[in-house]
Parts: sequence; C-alpha cells; structure tokens
Amino acid sequence: MRWILLIGVGLLVAAGLSTLWAQANPPEPPKFSSDAERHAWILNTFMPFLEQFRAKFHNVPRSDGEHLRWVIVATKRRRALEIGTANGYSALWLGLGLEATKGRLTTVEIEPSIAKEAQANLKRAGMLDKVVTVVEGDALKVVPNLRGKFDFVFIDIGPRALPFFKAVEPKLTDDAIVAVHRPPSPGALSDLLDELKRRPEWWLTTVQTGAPTGIVLALRKSP
Ligand SMILES: C[S@@+](CC[C@H](N)C(=O)[O-])C[C@H]1O[C@@H](n2cnc3c(N)ncnc32)[C@H](O)[C@@H]1O
Repeated sequence: MRWILLIGVGLLVAAGLSTLWAQANPPEPPKFSSDAERHAWILNTFMPFLEQFRAKFHNVPRSDGEHLRWVIVATKRRRALEIGTANGYSALWLGLGLEATKGRLTTVEIEPSIAKEAQANLKRAGMLDKVVTVVEGDALKVVPNLRGKFDFVFIDIGPRALPFFKAVEPKLTDDAIVAVHRPPSPGALSDLLDELKRRPEWWLTTVQTGAPTGIVLALRKSP
C-alpha cells in the first residue's frame, strides 16, 4: 500500500516537473520568409504549445479564439481592446485577425509576471508593439486613461464583467462590438446580462463556441 502511494506521488511530481520544464522551454520561432509562414508557425506550432497550459492561465478554448479572429476580420475591426491578457493566448488570435485588417490591439493585464509572459509570447509571434501592446495594470484604472476609441472590445475577466463593461463604455465607437467570454460557472455574467436586458439599445447574441463556455457579443443599435 505504501509503495503504491509512493509511486502515485512520484508520478504526480514527475508530471508537475515535466509541465514546468515544458513551460520554461517554449518553441523559439525560426526565421520566417513571409507573414504567411509566421502565421502557419503560430497556428500549428506555437498555439498548440500554449494550449498545454490552458487551465493554468484560464485561456479561452481554441474554438473561441477562432471565433474572435473571424469576427475581427468579418466586421473589419481596426482598434481593439482586450481586458484580461493572461499569457497572451487570446491576444494572438485577436492579433491574427488584426493583422488581416491592419488594426491594432491594446491588451490589459493586472499581474506583472503574467503580463511579462504575454509580452514574451507576443514577441515570439512577431506581434509585440507592432500589432499588440500589452499594458500592465488594473483595467478599471487603465482603461479610462487610454487614448482614442475602440471598435472592438474583448472582456475576459471571469464571471463578473459589469464593472469592466462600464469602464469601456465611454471608450466605444458608435459601431463598436463588445465580446465577453462566458466562463462555465453557474450564473456567470448574470450581472452584465441583467443590466443589458434593461437597456434595449444593446443587442446581444451568445455564441456557444467551446461548450460549456461561449462568447456574448453585444452591439448598440443605431439611433
Ligand atoms: C480568464 S484570464 C484571461 C485569459 C486570456 N484572455 C486568454 O484567453 O488567453 C483573466 C486574466 O485577467 C487578469 N485580471 C484580473 N483582474 C484584472 C483587472 N482588474 N485588470 C486587468 N486584468 C485583470 C487575470 O490576472 C487573468 O490573467
């Protein structure tokens, strides 16, 4: 019995160490001869590497990332804002869309060490400070001081999104789309959904991308 326990603990420690080792040894990008090559490396090598750590960073599922990229391109978004960067996984998807529309993303992360990790990942993807700028700080304080307006906002902050929605509202263009990640916890986003139900000028739809999570998309009806 003691041996079984020891083997179990040993296996757990080995699994933990191998995850730590993998995280500390990300694939480094080769020299790319075109953006198409770089994009293929991001999609086929770098993103699958990052997806191993999805639970640790609470990243959106790949299906959500694909959906976000699609919305950016289909609706020709150019000035995007993300709240909740984590290690930059969703910022890579948004960045891919914005490279197609020649747009830019500002993404805000409160944890300094995580913001640094996002910067390193976006640099590997060739996007840092060209397509994506990472701002370290509390979005509730940072967003009111950002310059200009945004035509796309992605809020990925957990089950309570209303304070962040209110912080971005004055920063939205008239035709802005706000996408909010709905985590799988019961009652997630009820604060925001209840508020927007009382404001019929906001039109909503929920896209069940990676069940049981999804993305709520909101836009303001033209006056
Ligand atoms: C769900 S994760 C974001 C995942 C990321 N969007 C992705 O899919 O790759 C939420 C992140 O928001 C950050 N965060 C929490 N409160 C914040 C705040 N007030 N301002 C900015 N970032 C915050 C957390 O540190 C965490 O990294």
